[in-house]
Amino acid sequence: MLASGCHALTYVHELRGAEEALRRSQEQLLQAQKMEAVGRLAGGIAHDFNNLLTVIGNYTSLALEALPEQEAVREDLLEVRRASERASALTRQLLAFSRRQVMQPRALDLQAVVQDMAAMLRRLIGEEIVLGVKTRPGLGYALADPVQVEQILLNLVVNARDAIAGRGSIAIECANADLDEEFARLHRGSRPGAYVMLAVSDTGTGMDAETQARIFEPFFTTKEQGRGTGLGLATVYGIVKQSGGYIAVYSEVGRGTVFRVYLPRAGTEQPTPLAPLAVPLALPAGNGTILLVEDEANVRGLVEKVLGRHGYTVVTATDGKDALVQAAAAGRVDLILTDVVMPHLSGPELVDRLRLSQPTAKVVYMSGYTDDAMIDRGVVGPEVTFLAKPFNTRDLLKTVRDALEGRRAAEPIPG
Ligand SMILES: Nc1ncnc2c1ncn2[C@@H]1O[C@H](COP(=O)(O)OP(=O)(O)OP(=O)(O)O)[C@@H](O)[C@H]1O
Ligand SMILES: [Mg+2]
Repeated sequence: MLASGCHALTYVHELRGAEEALRRSQEQLLQAQKMEAVGRLAGGIAHDFNNLLTVIGNYTSLALEALPEQEAVREDLLEVRRASERASALTRQLLAFSRRQVMQPRALDLQAVVQDMAAMLRRLIGEEIVLGVKTRPGLGYALADPVQVEQILLNLVVNARDAIAGRGSIAIECANADLDEEFARLHRGSRPGAYVMLAVSDTGTGMDAETQARIFEPFFTTKEQGRGTGLGLATVYGIVKQSGGYIAVYSEVGRGTVFRVYLPRAGTEQPTPLAPLAVPLALPAGNGTILLVEDEANVRGLVEKVLGRHGYTVVTATDGKDALVQAAAAGRVDLILTDVVMPHLSGPELVDRLRLSQPTAKVVYMSGYTDDAMIDRGVVGPEVTFLAKPFNTRDLLKTVRDALEGRRAAEPIPG
């Protein structure tokens, strides 16, 4: 009797365990679905805003160029441009969250990225907080976009700083991590495989369970108004997901927090050296004939004006069909600058059709989206030049000139 009683107890215990696991897994599923829905909404909004911000920012630049230095209204226009740049930064974060950022992954030495940023991060966190960077030999290469990894680090470190009142410390460390089936079962959203882990830990306030449940939602913030937008971790989450990775948080109130980011580990390929940041120069002008294809009238008008003012002959077309007609009339075209998603004929289809009559024309695609037909999961191959909306006048001119000169558009020039 005693034995069967024990059995029954074990059984009840196991059942409780299974129920608990089921409940946890349902909760995780609901959370994942909510994030999906919010992501779609955010991506849609960001896409529309991208077009508007491209127009606002660039027309402001054009107006500024035309005004004499001493004109008082210049200050007002500079304010407008600054505001539109801030808004562009916000839409970029939203796009990152909804995993629609253009991503150029390569084999990356994460420790090198951390080392490169350490001096800047130390300035950012001030002297009260100690930043420790632990390196270890034998670390694998992560497959990720270096700019995005910088975004991740920056957001995690700034959050850690904000969580520390007065003195404290932040530690960054990387390690190889092999996630197994068991880990994947316990952590929904993770997949078994080889990863490189990047951990950022702090001795800050920590978070309770309710806060932890919501931190990745866009616009969730516990900071006072004007201090946080609540987009930092949403951005990080989107980047990690888009990279095929996983993010985990462990936190205890009053003790601190650890964020662990798992990025897929690359095979045996050599790391790509990090490109040095380009120095801002005068706006790059050039010459040649550009076939501009864009169905949004205001964006088309704007790009035409910017290119026209900087030395180019511009032939405009309102869509792919129109472009075929215009190209035939224009004769030789040096560069095709085209939107990706358009009615009738998409950008890549148009380029295909023009291949025979314009064999030497270079191609630049412009889009605010990455999930267009040509760009599978937001990954752009090295042979495609891509100009992401919203772009500023400098990005536009630089990308066009680089493409014409047969260079791959490198880093966008800051400023
Ligand atoms: N290291 C941390 N320690 C304690 N709480 C944190 C930490 N990181 C994030 N949080 C909590 O998560 C919330 C959301 O973080 P998130 O980075 O998304 O937005 P934010 O920092 O408030 O604003 P933003 O990053 O847009 O300026 C924070 O407001 C904070 O409550
Ligand atoms: Mg933040």
